Amino acid sequence: MSGSVGEAGMAGVTEADAVEEHATEVTGRVTLVGGGPGDPGLLTLAGLDALRGADVVLYDHLAPLSCLRECPAGVLLIDVGKIPGGRATSQQRINELLVEHARSGRHVVRFKGGDPFVFGRGGEEVIACAGAGVPVSVVPGVTSSVAGPALAGIPVTHRGVVQAFTVVSGHVPPGHAASTTNWAALAHAGHTIVVLMGVANLASICAELVASGMPAGTPCAVIADAWLPTMRTVRGTAADIADRTMAAGLRPPAIAVIGAVAALEFDVSAPVAAPSRAAGGQTDELRAATPSDAGELLVLQRSCWVQEAVDNDSLAIPALHEDLATVAADLAVWQTWVLRRGGRLVAAVRARQVQTDWQIGRLMVAADLGGQGLGRQLLQHIEAQAPADVTRFALFTGAKSHRNRRLYAAAGYTELTGDDDLFPPVPITVRLVKGR
Ligand SMILES: C[S@@+](CC[C@H](N)C(=O)[O-])C[C@H]1O[C@@H](n2cnc3c(N)ncnc32)[C@H](O)[C@@H]1O
Repeated sequence: MSGSVGEAGMAGVTEADAVEEHATEVTGRVTLVGGGPGDPGLLTLAGLDALRGADVVLYDHLAPLSCLRECPAGVLLIDVGKIPGGRATSQQRINELLVEHARSGRHVVRFKGGDPFVFGRGGEEVIACAGAGVPVSVVPGVTSSVAGPALAGIPVTHRGVVQAFTVVSGHVPPGHAASTTNWAALAHAGHTIVVLMGVANLASICAELVASGMPAGTPCAVIADAWLPTMRTVRGTAADIADRTMAAGLRPPAIAVIGAVAALEFDVSAPVAAPSRAAGGQTDELRAATPSDAGELLVLQRSCWVQEAVDNDSLAIPALHEDLATVAADLAVWQTWVLRRGGRLVAAVRARQVQTDWQIGRLMVAADLGGQGLGRQLLQHIEAQAPADVTRFALFTGAKSHRNRRLYAAAGYTELTGDDDLFPPVPITVRLVKGR
């Protein structure tokens, strides 16, 4: 040890420096992966390679989550996505997690929707990693700003029509203190304008563009859930697109295209392997879950349990903190069905038979597809598949989970009060039963 001190000292490095250098040596690394707009087919081969070699994945909800099944069995999956109207992990905390795990020698994949550097905060993550001495690489992704319009038959440039396109954030309206966009200049630029994160502010954006000289009849289109089975497109003009979008009930994520190309509607379809474009999807598949579903099941379970935890003030719900291996192991304990729509896992249910009763432990419905009757549809599928001697279906949900309670009531379940031998009360839950 003293010899190395001398050598280090001669080179102008103290023992403390040497120890410090050793202590902070980073053996892990971070890869930012752009996952594209949501269809697993639009993840690049480099992105897939990164997932296959990941020790830890920090994922957002707009990434193609079915690709998580490609991760190694022992992977640690961390949900840092924003739940609409709910919880979000701060960027500061995401940066810390990237650095902490990389410093533990792990390959950390930061899995995002679209491209990491298009409103993806990828630059901030690169800066955080670089500042901590963590090697970082980037796998670009197919950005929704181009891919979304494309699947609606809209090219963002077209020879003879427009020679440029501008991608702009609409997360704050024109004139807002936080807005740095010169909308008046855009109104005259002659570019296709592609607005991300702008559904809520579409009316004020269009009003500003028209007030700045853009013709009110300029073609516009809004594409929601691009490349997902629920994709929908609404078309109009700068004068009416906001009203049409609202009337159609389109919700984020959505892309607005403003400019002459928005009048085009090329007859293009998704590649054969991609999910159905039909609204509502016609390709439901219900089947018993397999270990290859575990990654998506974990994601679905977490997003649903988080909502339930928020509803019921109980972040201590154990299932919220399960890992991939536990979810896979549970498949042997609980009978689990998954409902896929166009290849995407949209709902799942776990059931356990108790004598002749059918006790459903957990119904999970993809958050981004809520309100489409999927939960009820799944319950009906399960009831149809239950053995003939099942006389009563019972399930429980969080006492304050009003959405679930409405869902189960619509499916014919009634809430149980008082004692029940087969179905004892559980704190913060309500019990529901239905006979047949
Ligand atoms: C935070 S930005 C991230 C953009 C992403 N990095 C990209 O390159 O596509 C999120 C916004 O992207 C758009 N977006 C992302 N995926 C989408 C999809 N599948 N369909 C429609 N819009 C999408 C929406 O405007 C959404 O509000």
